[in-house]
Amino acid sequence: MDRSRPWWGRVACAAALAALFAASGAPAAAQESHSPSGLGRPLTAAEERDRIIGPEGADLPPGSGNAAEGAIVFERRGCSICHGPTGEEGPSISLVGGDVTTRTNYWPIRHWPFAPSIWDYIRRVMPYDRPGILSDDEAYAVTAYLLYRNDIISEEAVMDAESLPRIRMPSRDDYVMPGTWTPETRRGFPSLTER
Ligand code: HEC
Repeated sequence: MDRSRPWWGRVACAAALAALFAASGAPAAAQESHSPSGLGRPLTAAEERDRIIGPEGADLPPGSGNAAEGAIVFERRGCSICHGPTGEEGPSISLVGGDVTTRTNYWPIRHWPFAPSIWDYIRRVMPYDRPGILSDDEAYAVTAYLLYRNDIISEEAVMDAESLPRIRMPSRDDYVMPGTWTPETRRGFPSLTER
């Protein structure tokens, strides 16, 4: 704390802090938190929807979908407006194929290391103009559709909390934890082609 500040300045500061705590406690109290700080309360519906599903997919919720259903979601939820009728034409980035190059300003999903991350991204971030509108089933279906279009799963494969984490992404082996460095250590990604 600034020692040169007069005593009444510190009092004002403490009062402001107290007011802040009181204010932040109010919504928590409404949710029946048993903690005076308001921490430890249940997640709100919006927070629950924003929860990140880790790459190993351990927290994936119930639900399922396949590529045929996903093609319908892709159209009905407006994905095609930005990504193109088949996900390749744009105007926004292509969701099918694509290489990681020094000039690519995005990381094509077929190069992502873990399939649950695709589900997580779509569920929380897409559609770009209305994030959060997809149901869990719709997110599974449209993820299945994009994995199928990228030749990673078959057209019939059903994606759910069990099957999605089991998918081995084609570039998975490019992602390694850094080992002990030696002058011979290879740099960069093998899939990062110079273009
Ligand atoms: C309003 C335009 C718009 C709509 C609608 C939209 N997207 Fe996107 N999408 C984007 C943009 C822009 C990006 C790139 C975002 C970024 O890099 O920050 C993106 C990125 C993505 C990515 C990540 C691709 C990568 O390789 O990084 C996926 C997957 C995706 N969108 C799927 C979908 C799906 C599925 C839907 C429909 C439910 C959808 N999008 C609807 C604009 C849109």
